[in-house]
Amino acid sequence: MSKLAPSILSADFTKLGDQVKEASEAGADLIHFDVMDGHFVPNISFGPVVLKNLLKVDSAPFDVHLMIEDPDRYIDSFVTDKTEYITVHYEACPHIYRTLEHIKSKGIKAGVAIDPGTPIEALNSVMDLADMILVMTVEPGFGGQKFIPMTLKKVQKLAGYRNRHGHSFEIEVDGGANLDNVTSLYEAGADIIVAGSAVFGGDSITENVHEFLKRIKYSVDEKQINNLK
Ligand code: DX5
Ligand code: ZN
Repeated sequence: MSKLAPSILSADFTKLGDQVKEASEAGADLIHFDVMDGHFVPNISFGPVVLKNLLKVDSAPFDVHLMIEDPDRYIDSFVTDKTEYITVHYEACPHIYRTLEHIKSKGIKAGVAIDPGTPIEALNSVMDLADMILVMTVEPGFGGQKFIPMTLKKVQKLAGYRNRHGHSFEIEVDGGANLDNVTSLYEAGADIIVAGSAVFGGDSITENVHEFLKRIKYSVDEKQINNLK
């Protein structure tokens, strides 16, 4: 069973609250916030004010993805009653161990993300500390990009590593997920699947969420699959 985390970066910001509510009511497990500073990535998105405003909406918990330089300066401003994960980029953290410990000290699950070009071995020393490892399946910075096929092998390798070494971190995949590739991502070992344009693009958020859930919630128990039909 995997979790679905729609990314609001692809939502219509003129009706953000309604769309977050709709995705949550349709069954999304998390709401993914892509925070970009125009330095670590060549795009600027939004800051803590958006999370604070969305606290007024009945929604799934928050999954915060910090694509920013020097995240230590900003982590605390993304801690809210609904923040379940805060993820920083390995490539942006000179003191990654301390940064992850700080997130955990706030009672929040600590995630570390790696770009497509960063090998999973770079995270060896924090695999016991991290609650979640985010494998970027596109270069960070924009929604609507094409999935990078070689990253599927990274997910499989990371899942194998986790099982062999008894680690307990969750694996999140982020970027270019759609209804055609989500099953292979799920089967490769992804526990959390981020989808932005494939959920908020097109005509029905509810339908998009349901189609994703049909593909990532099934287990061997046929009954459960039928219940989702
Ligand atoms: C990219 C972000 C992703 C992206 C996902 O830097 O981290 O979360 O917004 O959007 P899609 O699913 O459209 O690739
Ligand atoms: Zn993201």
